[in-house]
Amino acid sequence: MKKLFIAGNWKSNKTVSEAQAWLSAARDPNGNIVICVPFTLLPALKGGPFVVGAQDVSPFAEGAYTGEVSARQAGEFADWVIVGHSERRKYFSENDDLLQKKVQQAKKAGLKVIYCVPDSETVVPENVDVIAYEPVWAIGTGKTDTPENADRVCAKIKERTNNAMVIYGGSVTDKNVASFVRMPHIDGVLPGGASLDPVTFSRLIDAAQHATK
Ligand code: PGA
Repeated sequence: MKKLFIAGNWKSNKTVSEAQAWLSAARDPNGNIVICVPFTLLPALKGGPFVVGAQDVSPFAEGAYTGEVSARQAGEFADWVIVGHSERRKYFSENDDLLQKKVQQAKKAGLKVIYCVPDSETVVPENVDVIAYEPVWAIGTGKTDTPENADRVCAKIKERTNNAMVIYGGSVTDKNVASFVRMPHIDGVLPGGASLDPVTFSRLIDAAQHATK
């Protein structure tokens, strides 16, 4: 059986009470499933049945950086952090240089990093734990890459990164997840929209695990 990596990305969604309602409706996952949530929701998820991730981290250590959450602070609640999501690159002008600093801070604080790239050519910092291939046009659009092309891109990324774990993200649902995780070079998925509803997300996990048994 393939070692699957599944991480839900809630993006900028949900209040504390909505997160609690999600938790009570979601089935306890069988295996390590990560949920990446806004900073405000980290305490609500901590200690529950899901592995907790943040969605961003400061490129600086603690100090005079108003509005930032340092890796050490995030690490009080989270085991993982997403760095380099295309929405951060696009709306917050995050570039490779800045992302490298974020990865360094995260690793120093003991956080594991899911590093997102839009293609197989983008620079990947050393020491990231999982790489997510997320074609920009597939994010939140309902249009996925084909499993065959996603597999080719993931294989190229593996070649360049000493066989790192590589997952696919971009409009993954409970209906199409099996077609991705069945591919030989795709080690898991990063669903955004499909992680917001607890029933859909539980179905997605089941479908992925079933397809790789
Ligand atoms: P999506 O988002 O599943 O809603 O397309 C994926 C992501 O941005 O991580």
